[in-house]
Amino acid sequence: MPSLISKTDKETRDLGRALAKAVTEPLAIALSGDLGAGKTTLVQGMAAGLGVGKEYYVTSPSYNIINEYPADPFRLCHLDLYRLGSPDELDYLGFEDILDQEAVIAVEWPGFLQETDFPFDLEIRFEFDPDYNRIISLFGSGQRGRNLLSRLIL
Ligand SMILES: Nc1ncnc2c1ncn2[C@@H]1O[C@H](COP(=O)(O)OP(=O)(O)O)[C@@H](O)[C@H]1O
Ligand SMILES: [Mg+2]
Repeated sequence: MPSLISKTDKETRDLGRALAKAVTEPLAIALSGDLGAGKTTLVQGMAAGLGVGKEYYVTSPSYNIINEYPADPFRLCHLDLYRLGSPDELDYLGFEDILDQEAVIAVEWPGFLQETDFPFDLEIRFEFDPDYNRIISLFGSGQRGRNLLSRLIL
């Protein structure tokens, strides 16, 4: 389980970029941690690493729940389930369609999906240390998650 300490938002963004560079297949990532821990910041780095155009500013999809960004070969689907009332709502939001795409799916507040045993390939946990740095730990599951971690160059 790789774990690192990020002292700045740039370091967190760089981790996201490195993760994206290691992607070779569609992937689903759960991002866990409190408000302000750096989940969206990491996704901003992932967007850059996946080749999402600079004209897109990646922000938290708190209200629309799903934000999608085109990129080649893997588009980025950024979800924030904080305001989701129930897992059923995902059906109306077109979640199933996303799963059919060649996409990297990054999910903030993934609790509802974890409860339904959605097969995340990677979980990234964000914690604060006493100096307010971020401790970021990566847990790979299944072949895809382990593959990604084995290719990750930090
Ligand atoms: N090491 C760090 N990693 C990520 N964000 C940091 C870090 N240090 C400070 N920050 C700041 O903390 C905030 C993190 O916000 P955000 O990424 O939106 O968190 P979340 O999506 O987890 O709620 C940003 O304002 C960012 O600039
Ligand atoms: Mg966020």
